[in-house]
Amino acid sequence: MFFRVAFALLPFIGRALSQQTAAPYVDPDNGITFYGLTDAVHHVTYGITFPPASRGSTEFIGEIVAPIDAKWVGFAPGGAMINNLLLVAWVNNGQIVRSNRKATDYLQPIAYQGPILTDLPSTKVNSTHWKWVYRCQNCTVWDTGSIDTNSGGPTGWAYSSVGVDNPADPQSTFLEHTDFSLYGRNFADAHASADDYDRWAAGGTGGGSGTTTPTTTTTTTQGPITSGIPYDYVVVGAGPAGIITADRLSEAGKKVLLVERGGPSTWETGGTYGPDWLKGSQLTKFDVPGLFESMFSDSNSFWWCKDINVFAGCLVGGGTSINGALYWYPPDIDFSPSQGWPTSWQNHHTWTNKMIARLPATDHPSTDGKRYLEQVFDVVSTLLKGQSYQQITINDNPDYKDHVFGYSAYDFVGGKRGGPVATYLRTAKARKNFTMKMYTMVTGVVRKGSTITGVRTNDTSLGPDGVIPLNPKGRVILSGGSFGSPRILFQSGIGPTDMLNIVKADPTQGPRMPAQSAWINLPVGENVSDNPSINLVFTHPSVDAYDNWANIQTNPRSADTKQYLASQSGVFAQASPRLNFWRAYAGSDQKTRYLQGTARPGAASWNTTFPFNQTQIFTITAYLSTGITSRGRIGIDAAVQPRVLTNPWFEDPVDKAVLIQGLKDIVSNIKSVPGMTMITPDNQTTIDAYVNNYPVADMNSNHWVGPCSIGNSQSNAVVDQNTKVFGTDNLFVLDASILPAIPMGNPHGAIMAAAEQGVAKILALSGGP
Ligand SMILES: Cc1cc2nc3c(=O)[nH]c(=O)nc-3n(C[C@H](O)[C@H](O)[C@H](O)COP(=O)(O)OP(=O)(O)OC[C@H]3O[C@@H](n4cnc5c(N)ncnc54)[C@H](O)[C@@H]3O)c2cc1C
Ligand SMILES: *[C@@H]1O[C@H](CO)[C@@H](O)[C@H](O)[C@H]1NC(C)=O
Ligand SMILES: *[C@@H]1O[C@H](CO)[C@@H](O)[C@H](O)[C@H]1NC(C)=O
Ligand SMILES: *[C@@H]1O[C@H](CO)[C@@H](O)[C@H](O)[C@H]1NC(C)=O
Ligand SMILES: *[C@@H]1O[C@H](CO)[C@@H](O)[C@H](O)[C@H]1NC(C)=O
Ligand SMILES: *[C@@H]1O[C@H](CO)[C@@H](O)[C@H](O)[C@H]1NC(C)=O
Ligand SMILES: *[C@@H]1O[C@H](CO)[C@@H](O)[C@H](O)[C@H]1NC(C)=O
Ligand SMILES: *[C@@H]1O[C@H](CO)[C@@H](O)[C@H](O)[C@H]1NC(C)=O
Ligand SMILES: *[C@@H]1O[C@H](CO)[C@@H](O)[C@H](O)[C@H]1NC(C)=O
Repeated sequence: MFFRVAFALLPFIGRALSQQTAAPYVDPDNGITFYGLTDAVHHVTYGITFPPASRGSTEFIGEIVAPIDAKWVGFAPGGAMINNLLLVAWVNNGQIVRSNRKATDYLQPIAYQGPILTDLPSTKVNSTHWKWVYRCQNCTVWDTGSIDTNSGGPTGWAYSSVGVDNPADPQSTFLEHTDFSLYGRNFADAHASADDYDRWAAGGTGGGSGTTTPTTTTTTTQGPITSGIPYDYVVVGAGPAGIITADRLSEAGKKVLLVERGGPSTWETGGTYGPDWLKGSQLTKFDVPGLFESMFSDSNSFWWCKDINVFAGCLVGGGTSINGALYWYPPDIDFSPSQGWPTSWQNHHTWTNKMIARLPATDHPSTDGKRYLEQVFDVVSTLLKGQSYQQITINDNPDYKDHVFGYSAYDFVGGKRGGPVATYLRTAKARKNFTMKMYTMVTGVVRKGSTITGVRTNDTSLGPDGVIPLNPKGRVILSGGSFGSPRILFQSGIGPTDMLNIVKADPTQGPRMPAQSAWINLPVGENVSDNPSINLVFTHPSVDAYDNWANIQTNPRSADTKQYLASQSGVFAQASPRLNFWRAYAGSDQKTRYLQGTARPGAASWNTTFPFNQTQIFTITAYLSTGITSRGRIGIDAAVQPRVLTNPWFEDPVDKAVLIQGLKDIVSNIKSVPGMTMITPDNQTTIDAYVNNYPVADMNSNHWVGPCSIGNSQSNAVVDQNTKVFGTDNLFVLDASILPAIPMGNPHGAIMAAAEQGVAKILALSGGP
């Protein structure tokens, strides 16, 4: 991803793991039957109950019960953070302080008029906990949305271990939450009887005789299945790497199952979701390149993996169905031993060319061949020419990455999101021996020592206990991405002991793990990298910021939508970036590091005290790529949800120094471009101060690679040169997680070229089906 900044609150894209599903419970203090859960990490309980559905009422009763070290807690019954009711509470001087708020962007949520909050008598603060029990009237409908009290969906919470700025003030500002999550629920199960509800709403207690009963949810085991259909190859995850892998395996005549936890994306995959202006067009939000920016502002963002707290796509196409689709052919250095690749990977051109043959890049995606909204290109190219940069067609010269700029390149096809879904997946689906299973979560592989015998899923129709069997000599390939694949390995008893012990302690996953004597100790999750990135925000009188992309869904410019619907041309045929550039730097440690720049109209945030014209804003994001030395760690939390354990940005101060130098160089000649003004950082803030104060998580580029690095030895790698997991006979990883270092550009081109090469090596490896 690029340039997404959240200053106060990140979106509620949390987790909805199987065991994190709401269920009815009775609060022992007040006897109210609530519907909700206690989160596994912070032990905060969130409960809600509605009046009978027949009333069509807009109120509910809720509670938050938190250990005393919870400094503030938020609850979003509607799930998404934007344009949804948020209830926030904390303790001040032994009293609960609370407010209802709403956020219109991923910024500080603010008060809004409408809801009527009444604290109920069982609200209390004792030495170990605080508890807020409340009635919320006029709370399920508001100007920009509503909660459907009869349907399933996500509910969100936010937690902070850092106190608010002014605890006495219910409208106090506060910093971004320190954790947040989503959990699954069905409000149809959360209605009380009329008598109970009215008594509780009036402050009464007990007697939960309503439609909800205090039971705990149990997973239902379905009727006996003697055996499932076996496959030659099971590929886990329909992201770019998994799709290419499954396509090439089925092309070779193997019987292949591709398992994906999410659902459809583009129209051809069965997707239907999109703004009203696409109705009747056989196009979805995922098909239209120009809707990319709305991925971050849509309140119904079902495409994010809800159990991962950074952006990750959980739908057919994985990241390539929701990303900016910037697409770079890999330079030689992306597969060189200097970056950690085994020497057998160096001759990448054979495989890169196979990828290009299937999916060529374009830097003019509009079907009429014209370029639109090019003012940012013009302004930034003037700036860069003043620094001796040369304009090239970037993908014509993949190895040329110093002092060059060019038009942004994409893998859009015919003015639509193309990528692996519109190419490789299409050919795979046409084959009889290819099957794709959506909405199926893989929770581990079943193994006897070093041999994998099946793939465990949550779908009992695929085999006994949800286990998909393999044909003799069958193989499993994990392509779940840099967060998905490590978790599957941990759940299969493969990884560092600290992570495996977390799985072992989990009541659901623990008993399914192989015995401790069969654990395979590999550095899964170590040595992870992602580009550190910093945004600079500017204005220029010529620039059309396209209303900062705010209206593209609900109030788009009608000439542009008409043009797009008629011929897939115009502004909507491209994502937001307009220009990319690269420059090489020598660090004080004598190592070469490359800086990539991406320029686009609009900005995710700004910070200046001077007035400026919002219609003219644009952003340059500067990322440090090949050569960065900082590394981080990916693992799981106590609820077995993928998490960043150690941030990978600026761990090495030389990375930081080089990026600061690069930012200073970018604006070194800004005065030579008439009318170009930098508004963030503004002229009262130095670049050094700006970078020093930059919120760490905002450096995230969502280009995670490396947790299952390829290498020659199991002391510092997880997969061998054939992508086989060390210590196993028939388990492979093939996705972003095997890349030992960050590629030169936004990574999915390099990841797909790696998939082409990796699957060829797997097919060539003896011992398979
Ligand atoms: C917001 C955003 C913008 C980006 N912009 C760009 C860009 O412009 N250009 C670029 O090159 N890169 C971009 N990226 C990065 C790029 O999309 C990823 O690097 C790439 O998609 C990784 O591919 P992958 O196949 O390794 O994994 P993914 O794309 O993450 O795919 C993994 C798939 O596996 C599935 N899965 C995971 N676990 C399981 C399980 N247990 N059971 C079943 N299925 C599972 C997931 O649902 C997903 O579909 C962006 C990423 C994000 C998040
Ligand atoms: C209910 O809330 C809305 C705003 O969402 C407000 O306009 C309306 O006046 C409120 N109604 C009552 C009865 O308070
Ligand atoms: C404080 O209240 C909580 C929530 O009702 C309860 O679980 C806990 O036992 C109480 N602690 C003490 C010390 O009474
Ligand atoms: C898979 O398909 C190929 C070509 O379509 C065919 O030759 C092969 O026999 C099939 N294999 C299986 C296992 O069905
Ligand atoms: C399995 O998990 C997926 C992804 O979370 C979910 O959509 C699906 O409904 C689950 N299937 C079953 C049978 O529980
Ligand atoms: C905004 O700028 C001011 C002044 O430079 C700085 O103190 C503050 O930390 C900045 N805020 C953010 C969120 O970057
Ligand atoms: C802001 O910029 C737009 C477009 O360049 C221009 O039409 C408008 O007059 C400007 N507004 C102000 C207040 O300067
Ligand atoms: C700083 O920038 C503001 C607005 O862009 C401008 O009005 C002001 O004159 C500038 N100050 C200096 C010292 O350059
Ligand atoms: C991490 O990478 C460094 C080089 O970048 C290497 O020396 C080290 O062995 C790796 N460690 C692990 C655990 O992979």
